[in-house]
Amino acid sequence: MGEITGLKADLVQIVRLALAEQTEDVRLFAARLVRKYRGTEPELAEQVDLYLRAKPHRTGAPLRKTVAPSLPDQALPVDDESRLSLLKVFKDPSDRETPLLSTELEEALGQLIQERKQVSRLTSLGLTPTRSAIFVGQPGVGKTLTARWLAAQLGVPLYVLDLTAVMSSLLGRSGSNLRAALDFAKRSPCVLLLDEIDSIAKRRSDDADIGELKRLVTVILQEVDEWPATGLLLAATNHPELIDPALWRRFDLVIEFKIPEPAAIKDAIKRFLGPDFALFGRWIEILAFAFRGQSFSDIEREIQRFRRAVALGTASDEDLIEDFIKARALSLERQGRIDMAVLLAKQTRLSQHSISDITGVSRDTIRKYTTDGPTVVPQKRRRKA
Ligand SMILES: Nc1ncnc2c1ncn2[C@@H]1O[C@H](COP(=O)(O)OP(=O)(O)OP(=O)(O)O)[C@@H](O)[C@H]1O
Ligand SMILES: [Mg+2]
Repeated sequence: MGEITGLKADLVQIVRLALAEQTEDVRLFAARLVRKYRGTEPELAEQVDLYLRAKPHRTGAPLRKTVAPSLPDQALPVDDESRLSLLKVFKDPSDRETPLLSTELEEALGQLIQERKQVSRLTSLGLTPTRSAIFVGQPGVGKTLTARWLAAQLGVPLYVLDLTAVMSSLLGRSGSNLRAALDFAKRSPCVLLLDEIDSIAKRRSDDADIGELKRLVTVILQEVDEWPATGLLLAATNHPELIDPALWRRFDLVIEFKIPEPAAIKDAIKRFLGPDFALFGRWIEILAFAFRGQSFSDIEREIQRFRRAVALGTASDEDLIEDFIKARALSLERQGRIDMAVLLAKQTRLSQHSISDITGVSRDTIRKYTTDGPTVVPQKRRRKA
């Protein structure tokens, strides 16, 4: 896709601001458009000017609706042209629910937290705490969520750098935008997350852009090197192969987020079901099997759907589970479908006829596996492209 420029780009920006309900910013931007287009598009400029005059800005209204009252004194950095905020802020209470983490992950993050909490002790011994880490893992496994939780644990705000907003700025300005955002984050203790850091590499660019993108990477390289020990710099990606190797090796720590193991899937089902566990609990083994290879956010989305349907009375738990298993069975290989059929035969009162209908495994095969066949369902994890 080519770069949108000129009038079209301005149109896109104004739609963005309007949808974000940044009314005051819409006014500022519109006023700028009037000045910009007075010479080249006088009718357009006049019309916009007319609207601006017809709706004078409300005195006493907060200037920037999106800025939360508890923010630090300095205003958040925004892109001059688009008025888009370059950083998103999260300030969560320290009792924020812990993400579901594997034991390895829990240990790695526990160590990170201890280091941050005892910075002075480490420095007195001539050591520096971990200043930067990169989170790697497929979508929906908790990278962003964990960054929020980490910041809450450390009692500091989380700033998330919107790299798309940085890059959407005019050619030649994204480097300075990035610096402005990073300088802001360096001023006070915080966790800064460069989310989806691969987006720089992924962006299809024409020749004119390449220099600009390289400049961005250079800025990040320097910042990772020089990041102060008062802050924690995190990056997240689901495309580690796209990350510049020079950038990759600058992170103090690489933390891998994996697709959940069977035990974690069960924990996730329980957590996401909440009070509805009482209703769906009897399906847990089957659901745990069906959710193998899926991310936490996939599991959450599906469970929320079940809960809504049951709450509204549009379907029974049994119908929901059957339909869901049927859909999942379609994506399984033969052995996976057989395992599923065996599990259904053991865990439910469904007839062999229904099980065969749900899984697509013949009744003969089901009979064979449930009478004289293997009784253990293999723990093999299925990876689907
Ligand atoms: N480990 C987890 N524990 C609990 N809930 C989780 C976990 N991982 C994901 N979720 C659920 O899925 C949602 C999406 O997770 P999150 O945004 O952290 O994924 P991500 O790894 O950052 O994905 P992406 O690469 O797409 O940005 C979360 O808001 C949460 O509801
Ligand atoms: Mg994320």
